[in-house]
Amino acid sequence: MKKIAVFASGSGSNFQVIAEQFDVKFIFSDHRDAFVLERADNLGVPAYAFELKEFDNKAAYEQAIVDLLDQHQIDLVCLAGYMKIVGPTLLSAYEGRIINIHPAYLPEFPGAHGIQDAWEAGVDQSGVTIHWVDSGVDTGQIIKQVRVPRLAGDTIETFETRIHEHEYQLYPQVLVELGVEPKNP
Ligand code: GAR
Repeated sequence: MKKIAVFASGSGSNFQVIAEQFDVKFIFSDHRDAFVLERADNLGVPAYAFELKEFDNKAAYEQAIVDLLDQHQIDLVCLAGYMKIVGPTLLSAYEGRIINIHPAYLPEFPGAHGIQDAWEAGVDQSGVTIHWVDSGVDTGQIIKQVRVPRLAGDTIETFETRIHEHEYQLYPQVLVELGVEPKNP
């Protein structure tokens, strides 16, 4: 049985969807006050949170993360709104075992503002992508992606909501395809 951990920096709505359907060994957040930690508490998922600024450097911060992953014998790390670039310490330990969800149709609109950037570019469709994490920003090999239309009458809020709805479908699908067993198959 593949063991997964989820990393999130903020709200954690993708984490919630994943944790409702799969046994998540733990959630990690790089913000001690992230709302995802409340979600984890409500769902009974073990949570860890510490911040980069609490360490001497990013290598030490990431080594603490690697230690957690090793302790829990995690097979697959699922980034879901984890807004830090994965550095060499974490990547070299877990490359090929880290996936990320991005709220655009990569390679279109990489970076931290995929939804807003697509909206401001005036596209008539954007999308959602799940990809392997490499040393670039949203450049790793694509696992699966879907198109999401921008509809007449959309505001950025309705557009964003539609993109999130597709995220909540795509992440569980990809986990199953990668051999992660759902709680109630
Ligand atoms: C999601 O839309 C995710 O795709 C995005 O952050 C959001 C997190 O929402 N990630 C990125 O933009 C990564 N570049 P959530 O915390 O409610 O799951």
